[in-house]
Amino acid sequence: MRPTTRGACSPRHWLGYYRWTADRPPRELLLQTLNHIDWEGRRRRRREAVELGFGSGTDALELLRRGWRVLAIDGQVAAAKFLERRVPPRLRASLTTVVAPMEGLELPPTDLVYASFSLPFCDPERFPDLWRTIRTSLRPGGHFAGQLFGTDDAWAGRRPFSFFDRAGVQRLARGYTIELLRETVEEGRSYRGPKHWHYFDVILEKPGRVP
Ligand SMILES: C[S@@+](CC[C@H](N)C(=O)[O-])C[C@H]1O[C@@H](n2cnc3c(N)ncnc32)[C@H](O)[C@@H]1O
Repeated sequence: MRPTTRGACSPRHWLGYYRWTADRPPRELLLQTLNHIDWEGRRRRRREAVELGFGSGTDALELLRRGWRVLAIDGQVAAAKFLERRVPPRLRASLTTVVAPMEGLELPPTDLVYASFSLPFCDPERFPDLWRTIRTSLRPGGHFAGQLFGTDDAWAGRRPFSFFDRAGVQRLARGYTIELLRETVEEGRSYRGPKHWHYFDVILEKPGRVP
């Protein structure tokens, strides 16, 4: 049986993580999502996104550069300070940052909910509620994109994090059109050092006519 660890991530840990990731390029999953939306979205006039757990803000900046309005939510004050320092003045009006836990959030109607390596940090008891909130907030034709950790991940069993097997991810995707469901199992690195990764990249589209 795997060891169980509580409360693994302190504000200091996250600040170190933001410094470690600040120079990375936008995530491939974000670029893939935006290319998909551009490809299918000739009818789409509105570009409003919610980013959950934005970290150092690189992906929020990419959304802003591409003309999206972004509501960026993270549990850490340091994340908000990090991102706000990085936003060019001409894009500031398109960004709202909120410091709040993702558990218990209320979200406005939106065209994209993007959560890169952040939903795994949701308390598993609160995850179903968060997942419902995401779905409710998405407008018809809107997308969810993000990663979910798999049950074979080295951190599986740590609390209060959320992990899913493939069947669990497929259950979460019910009622959406699956644009991408890609499973990765690999040896790699995390901010803490070498790590066995197991995660799912997911892009889902909420059915319905784009308003
Ligand atoms: C692994 S980082 C990912 C950051 C960024 N999205 C990326 O891809 O590099 C997870 C982020 O989620 C935030 N986070 C973790 N638990 C959270 C919670 N319960 N509520 C809100 N944000 C949380 C952390 O502060 C951190 O910025």
